[in-house]
Amino acid sequence: SPSNRVSIIGAGKVGSTLAQRIAEKNLADVVLLDIVEGWPQGVALDLMEARGVERHDRQIVGTNDYTDTANSNIIVIAAGVPRKPGINREDLIKINARIVTEASKQAIEHSPEAILIVITNPLDIMTYLAWEAADVPKHRVMGMGGVLDSARFQTFIGMELGVSNAEINATVIGSHGDLMVPLPRYSTVNGIPINQLMDAGAIDRLVQRTRHGGEEIVGLMKISSAYFAPASSACLMVESILFNQSRLLPCSVYLHGEYGVQDIFLGLPCRLGYQGVEQVVELELSDTERAAFIESGKLVAQNIEEARAMLKTAS
Ligand code: APR
Repeated sequence: SPSNRVSIIGAGKVGSTLAQRIAEKNLADVVLLDIVEGWPQGVALDLMEARGVERHDRQIVGTNDYTDTANSNIIVIAAGVPRKPGINREDLIKINARIVTEASKQAIEHSPEAILIVITNPLDIMTYLAWEAADVPKHRVMGMGGVLDSARFQTFIGMELGVSNAEINATVIGSHGDLMVPLPRYSTVNGIPINQLMDAGAIDRLVQRTRHGGEEIVGLMKISSAYFAPASSACLMVESILFNQSRLLPCSVYLHGEYGVQDIFLGLPCRLGYQGVEQVVELELSDTERAAFIESGKLVAQNIEEARAMLKTAS
């Protein structure tokens, strides 16, 4: 049978790191597409030249032409301008909205059956725009936010307790932004909820750090935003889909009235397999958790409206 193929639109730090993970984990062949001429070709060749050392035979192709992405199983949208000091939120939305809309349209035209994973920020908004532009069934479009936020929470729990990451599971739902909703009650060390292992003050500290995890990295790196953990997180989603693993991962997903919220993309645990999003889990929430989830959705809904208005005036 022909090899699985993943096309990554945007061969920047996140895109190229994801390409490396997919190829070196031997998950699929990879096409890296970027708007800059020569850049994705160079990145792809560099990755190809590592094959003899890493001992794999995956093809990595760099291109500026969407026809080279044809027949992909998965399209990952990692194109855009990253968050950095000096660029305001509105400008970021405007620039990335245009890039994501264009990329989704073009990519899906050449791979009409593909599953779309969006990484570009602001995540929940860009995922919605990608779905609209691609015009494919909702279960085939998802955003990578919750896996990363949960991974960060997981890491901070491990650092706090000094226990192995192998035992820790964390769950973060809601928007991929300041209003995200980390769920300590659903975060455990080998099944034991973390509130039995640390006090409320410590949990609150870790929750806050998780909420601002992206900013913390930008603050340190200055000229870049995070890319290793984002690439790892996206890779997990790719793997679950390609190999029909049915992993239950928090993703930005189209809501059909969960907790009374609808017609936006927002983070909830999803079962990911061949079909894309195969199930959305509406887990039991306390009043406070539910209110926080709904609140994060309101901001996303508002931003989607703004982004659509911007796109309209631009065209
Ligand atoms: N089509 C294809 N590629 C594009 C386009 C476009 N229209 N516009 C920009 N790009 C490419 C850039 O040329 C660049 O190579 O997208 C890439 C973005 O890479 P980086 O600037 O390195 O950004 P990165 O850190 O990878 O982040 C990408 O992911 O995590 C999010 O917030 C982050 O939205 C950002 C995205």
